Amino acid sequence: MFKRLFQYVAEYKGRLWLIIILGLLGVGFEVAKPLPIKLVIDNVLSSQPLPGIITYFFGNNSAITENKHYLLYACVALMVLLSVCSVIITLFVFNLTVRLAQGLVFNLMIDFFSKLQRMSLSFYSRNKVGDLLQRMSGDVFVVYFLVAQIILPALISLVSLAAMFYIMMKIDLVLAIVAFSVIPVLAITLAFFAKPMNDTTTVQYKTQGLFSAFLQQSLSSMKIIQAFGRESFMHQKLKTHAEAFSNAFIMANKVSMTFNQLSFLITGIASAVLVLLGAFRGLNGTMSVGDLFIFLGYLTALYGPVNSLTTAIGAAVAIGARGKRVFDILDSDEVVKEKHNAITATDTKGAIEFRDVSFGYIDEDEVRNPVLHNISFKVSPGQVIALVGPTGTGKTSIISLLARFYDPWKGEILMDGVDIADLKLHSLRENISLVLQEPFIFPMTIGENIAFGNPDASFEEIVEAAKGAQAHEFISKLPNGYETSISEAGASLSGGEKQRISIARAFLKKAPILILDEPTSAVDAQTEAKIFKALAKFSKGKTVFLISHRLSTLKHADQIITIQNGIIVEMGTHDALIKKGLLYADLYKYHHFN
Ligand SMILES: Nc1ncnc2c1ncn2[C@@H]1O[C@H](COP(=O)(O)OP(=O)(O)OP(=O)(O)O)[C@@H](O)[C@H]1O
Ligand SMILES: [Mg+2]
Repeated sequence: MFKRLFQYVAEYKGRLWLIIILGLLGVGFEVAKPLPIKLVIDNVLSSQPLPGIITYFFGNNSAITENKHYLLYACVALMVLLSVCSVIITLFVFNLTVRLAQGLVFNLMIDFFSKLQRMSLSFYSRNKVGDLLQRMSGDVFVVYFLVAQIILPALISLVSLAAMFYIMMKIDLVLAIVAFSVIPVLAITLAFFAKPMNDTTTVQYKTQGLFSAFLQQSLSSMKIIQAFGRESFMHQKLKTHAEAFSNAFIMANKVSMTFNQLSFLITGIASAVLVLLGAFRGLNGTMSVGDLFIFLGYLTALYGPVNSLTTAIGAAVAIGARGKRVFDILDSDEVVKEKHNAITATDTKGAIEFRDVSFGYIDEDEVRNPVLHNISFKVSPGQVIALVGPTGTGKTSIISLLARFYDPWKGEILMDGVDIADLKLHSLRENISLVLQEPFIFPMTIGENIAFGNPDASFEEIVEAAKGAQAHEFISKLPNGYETSISEAGASLSGGEKQRISIARAFLKKAPILILDEPTSAVDAQTEAKIFKALAKFSKGKTVFLISHRLSTLKHADQIITIQNGIIVEMGTHDALIKKGLLYADLYKYHHFN
């Protein structure tokens, strides 16, 4: 998991190094801070011999080494300088880090999104949109935390510790060892807490995902909730989700808080012991007051890095749990895969063949529900094919397979004699115009909605398609005509209006294969007749798949395929099937009498 995260970081290696180097420079300033005070105590206030480094730089007879006042001024100036430098570097490093981390988050988010765009639709029947949103907008911040809360603090802490240990060791080896003996104790504590911390954060983010999925679903079905008066029921459900999330949140924070406080306690006790030992040395005269000052100064400074190191490791555990949520999706292979040597379909004629295709859906618990069984049929270019059958028998599923939203469990589907699994996905779908059973409208203008599959279409072409779909009239009556913006999911349009915009969209996309799944179920019979007349014009030379429960619209199809329980029961023209007197004849008779 962390390897995958580091791959993202590696892209910014150069800038990360810059940050690290500047960060280490900052450490230098930080570590040097107590040194001028030691000079003031030992060399200004009392008369200890000057440290070698001062005499080395300034010689024995310079103003600074001769005059205590000058030395004091120099020390004070140095203190100010160190503080200023340290602040400037900190600000600079912070700025660079935030920018770098934001870039990382952005990259991960984009990868996540493009992965989602490649996922097969079966993935979406199993994963909730709200949870995916949570992963994509929240959990991707792990890369930010990785850099800003783990890599940099850990590195800087380690180097600070090393520098301090070096200086402390020079002053008093035994005390330095006592001070650092706290590290293994902390490591043991951490080992003890790692699993509970990981487990509780995993639960926390899982419940958060469920909570946000529930919110997203409720918000998008507000109409139904209000219509059925189930507000209080949904309120109760929301409360259950919120409680689960907040319990998990409290639990996770309790565990990590306990760990943090325990590590503070350990370092606190160690500090007390060191003060005791250090003070004894001062009393014995084995340590100068200035050295004791540095020691005590570092002592408090020492546990800053130690704590930030342990916090970083704790954060790494939490990040592990969240990062997994991101990479579970990024690394899942539920995509409809494009072969690496996939080919582009050129000059498609529109011949389609299903060869012994079986297919079904797999639910959240990995249970396989077969839907289609051994479907075989052949369509010549330019033919109109009708798929007929009772509701829920798998008509839409056949269409979904043809557009390769899913891959069949068995058998193959050929377009112009080529297995569609061998085609580039984009190339396959470019050759298909689709009107789905549930019309979909994007929150854009009507014109943009119609031109969605053919962005280069001229305004005249858009109007022509809209006229064919019998949509021109109502569009013209809208305040801004084709420029009218449609609100969220086309809430302002009627069902029949939405359907006609979808049809216009399919008409405008000039693909050799046209699929219409119940395109006019919400349109009155007269308008429907007009649309089908226009269809004859727009679909000239194209292969057309038609699904409709209004059998009168299918009468002129070249081939009617009747499906029941996922099995093809009969195939033929209208007249032939009526003569046969089986399922189609039954359905037609029933339809006719009503
Ligand atoms: N995304 C899905 N996930 C799981 N099961 C599905 C999914 N889509 C369809 N099904 C199931 O597959 C079966 C066939 O559905 P399909 O939509 O193909 O039927 P249909 O013939 O188009 O029906 P209708 O005439 O009502 O549109 C149904 O039992 C349905 O419940
Ligand atoms: Mg259907």
